[in-house]
Amino acid sequence: MKRLGILISGRGSNLEAIAGHIEAGSLDAEIAIVISNRPDARGLAIARQRGLPTVCIPSKGMDREAHDRLTFATLQNHQVDLVCLAGYMRLLSPWLIQQLPQRILNIHPSLLPAFPGLEAQRQAIEYGVKVTGCTVHFVDEHLDHGPIVAQTAIAVEDTDTPETLSARLLREEHRLYAEAIALVLSGRYRIEGRRVIRT
Ligand code: GAR
Repeated sequence: MKRLGILISGRGSNLEAIAGHIEAGSLDAEIAIVISNRPDARGLAIARQRGLPTVCIPSKGMDREAHDRLTFATLQNHQVDLVCLAGYMRLLSPWLIQQLPQRILNIHPSLLPAFPGLEAQRQAIEYGVKVTGCTVHFVDEHLDHGPIVAQTAIAVEDTDTPETLSARLLREEHRLYAEAIALVLSGRYRIEGRRVIRT
């Protein structure tokens, strides 16, 4: 059974969705460890309620690489095969990314390369796009940038606020992330340049 390490900072709805897919048998994996960089993350409580192993490694005021070294040691202790960032709102150090080449996934609430960074849903509305979506990608050394594993598009309505758009996107995120994780765990893909090609 492939082992996932899930990194969170907040609400944890993507974590919850991944755990739900595993429980329902639609994702063949186990969650080996949930790591939060914030002690007050709601996702930590969700993980504990589900009986998942959790660790909090507070990052406030800590040097990025020093924090990532602690995170990496924890991932190694739990023999993680794949790391999933699920609302992890902290940039990873190049050091950590080099330890886990093509072994870290992220989900982002826009159709990358549009609207990287914070508040992607608000950025999309303010820009005036009619279509947005969510992206699962491998993490490389640049923000919201690595090879794209999967994307889903949805319409932006004239009446949308960042909140209504986020809520609709989140439903898509919860489905897309599990699918993308399954694909990566299956190994049935190859990466050519920036392209992730199914094999
Ligand atoms: C999700 O919408 C995720 O796509 C986004 O944060 C939210 C976390 O929600 N991530 C990013 O913006 C990363 N750049 P969750 O804690 O409920 O899963």
